[in-house]
Parts: sequence; structure tokens; C-alpha cells
Amino acid sequence: MIDFADQVAVVTGAGRGLGRVYALELARRGASIVVNDIGATMHGGGLDTAVADQVVDEITASGGTAVASYDSVDSPAGGEAIVRTALDEFGRLDAVISNAGIFNSIAFDELTPVEWRRMLSVHLDGAFYLSQPAYRVMKKQGYGRFVFIASSAGMFGQHLEAHYAAAKAGIVGLTNVIALEGEPHGIRANTVLPFGISRMVTETLGDPKALEDNGFFAAIRPELVAPLVVYLASRACDVNHQNFSACAGRFARVFIGLSEGWLAPRDGDPTAEDIAGHLEAVAATDPFTVPGSIYDEVFAVTRRLGVTG
Ligand SMILES: NC(=O)c1ccc[n+]([C@@H]2O[C@H](COP(=O)([O-])OP(=O)(O)OC[C@H]3O[C@@H](n4cnc5c(N)ncnc54)[C@H](O)[C@@H]3O)[C@@H](O)[C@H]2O)c1
Repeated sequence: MIDFADQVAVVTGAGRGLGRVYALELARRGASIVVNDIGATMHGGGLDTAVADQVVDEITASGGTAVASYDSVDSPAGGEAIVRTALDEFGRLDAVISNAGIFNSIAFDELTPVEWRRMLSVHLDGAFYLSQPAYRVMKKQGYGRFVFIASSAGMFGQHLEAHYAAAKAGIVGLTNVIALEGEPHGIRANTVLPFGISRMVTETLGDPKALEDNGFFAAIRPELVAPLVVYLASRACDVNHQNFSACAGRFARVFIGLSEGWLAPRDGDPTAEDIAGHLEAVAATDPFTVPGSIYDEVFAVTRRLGVTG
């Protein structure tokens, strides 16, 4: 059994929705949990400490161990305070589930700089502000697990979500580097792209009838995301630097591939017309590789060019 005996996990945005389910399952498996949540509205307004407190009560009522944290992830001081809570209350920090989030839908031509910044500050800045102090603790102890909650909106696109998608795709970039730098220190960093019925879905749709009649919404129970998050947060986690989608019981890797492309002849500079003429090869997705870092791409090109040194 995958267990978290003697381990401590931080789950941000754990007072509701998917984060609550992750926190309950980690606690059930023995982790001491920092239940972080400011208790905001879906758009990020307001504060309500009862939201985190309720999940702490749920965990402790079923024999688990948890403490509430009401700090916002969207400032360096907030991220530091969340990590400090884990250390002060439980003496260590093994896993971070960076899940706190806000959501709204705005057409790209109407998106204001304030709305853009607000979205990035919670999702992307928040992931950085939390993970950097956590990383320092994990590096020192030679062990750690990061599960960053991204989104298919960021990887594949979603109408009306330029700000949200950019923030979530940015989280993938952040994870790529934490995974590479953390690997020699026993740290693993991966992302999860979840689908789960929560207020993010219900408030966005706004039509209860549409929800009731829709088989997909009935199928995306948050409990069907938790197994993946829990695995990636555990000692058993054998993967690093990867992205996984969890949707209605379908678990799948999401990756960025690099196609073979078209290599221009070296006896003259390629023109825009050459690109148009070779677009089929340039844009083909097969064959492809999945580079482990930027260096894999560089080495693949230098090999084809016959360049050494
Ligand atoms: N529900 C889905 O289908 C879905 C799909 C893709 C990604 N996600 C992501 O999963 C995560 C959880 O979403 P959810 O659907 O459970 O939403 P939710 O609104 O139910 O829960 C999010 C929680 O985050 C908290 N929060 C917001 N700002 C915070 C801050 N600054 N600091 C600390 N806590 C804060 C909120 O108070 C709330 O309790 C989010 O990152 C979301 O973007 C969800």
C-alpha cells in the first residue's frame, strides 16, 4: 500500500473542490496535512477561514492529522508562511500539492491587464512563491514531491481563458525546471491536468439543468483525480518531469513532442518559400521525440548537422 506514514503534505486550495479530496485521501493514507485555503469566491474575492477549518475538522474526525493555513499563495510572504506552518506544526515537509486557483471567462479582446495579472498572480506566481521555500526544505532533506495542478486549457487551449491558460501553461514550464534541478536531490516534480466537477464547472455553466442532463459532468468525479495526485505525491512515485491528465477515470500522459521536421540543405540559406514548400515535413507530428531538456533538442540537431563541439 502507498502510505504517507511520518510524512507531511501541503495542499493549497484544500478547503473545497478537488483540493479537499486530495487532502482527505492523503490524510487517510497517513500524511499530516496543511490544509491551506483563503476561502475565496471562484473569482478570488473574499476570505473565509471556515473553509479550511471544515476540512481540518473532517480529517481529524476520521482520525487523521491536519492543521489549517489561511495564507494566500499569491505573495512571497504567503508562500513562506505556508511552508513555515508545515515545519512549525509537523517538523518537516515531504509533498506539496500546488492546487489553489481562481477562474473566470473573458473574451481575449476584453481581457484587462488587471484581470490578466490577477489570474497569473494566483496560479503562476503562487506556484513559484510556494514551491521555492518548499524546494529549499526538500533539497536540504534530500527528498520531496511536487504535484503542480495545471490544466488542459493551458496545454491545448480553451476559449475565453487566455489568462488562465497562460498561467497554467506557465506552471508546466516551472515544473520542467524544478524537475531537472531537483532530480539530484531526490525531488520529483510533475503536473496533473484534472477534470472534476466543482464550483469552477457549476458556476461557469450556471445552468443546473444542463449539468443534471450531462453524462460527462456526472462522470468527472473529483475522486477520480485523487489516485494520480496521491501517487505522484508519494515515496512510490517513480516519474519526474511529466504531465498527466486525469479525466473520468482515464489517466494519460500529456507530453510535448519534437518532430523530426525538415532540415534545410546547408548550401544556402532557406527562404520563406522553402518553409511553405516543406510545410508538410515541418508540421508533421511523426516521427517525434520527447526531449528531456533543451539539450536533447540541441544535441539532436548538432548530430544531424554533423557538428561537433
Ligand atoms: N475543476 C476542474 O475541472 C479543473 C480543471 C482543470 C484545472 N483545475 C484546477 O484545479 C484546481 C482546483 O480547482 P477546483 O475546481 O477544485 O476549484 P474550487 O474553486 O472548488 O477550489 C479552489 C480553492 O482554491 C482556494 N483559493 C483561491 N485563491 C487562493 C489563494 N490565493 N490562496 C489559497 N487558496 C486559494 C479557493 O478558496 C478554493 O477553495 C485549480 O487550480 C483549478 O484551476 C480544475
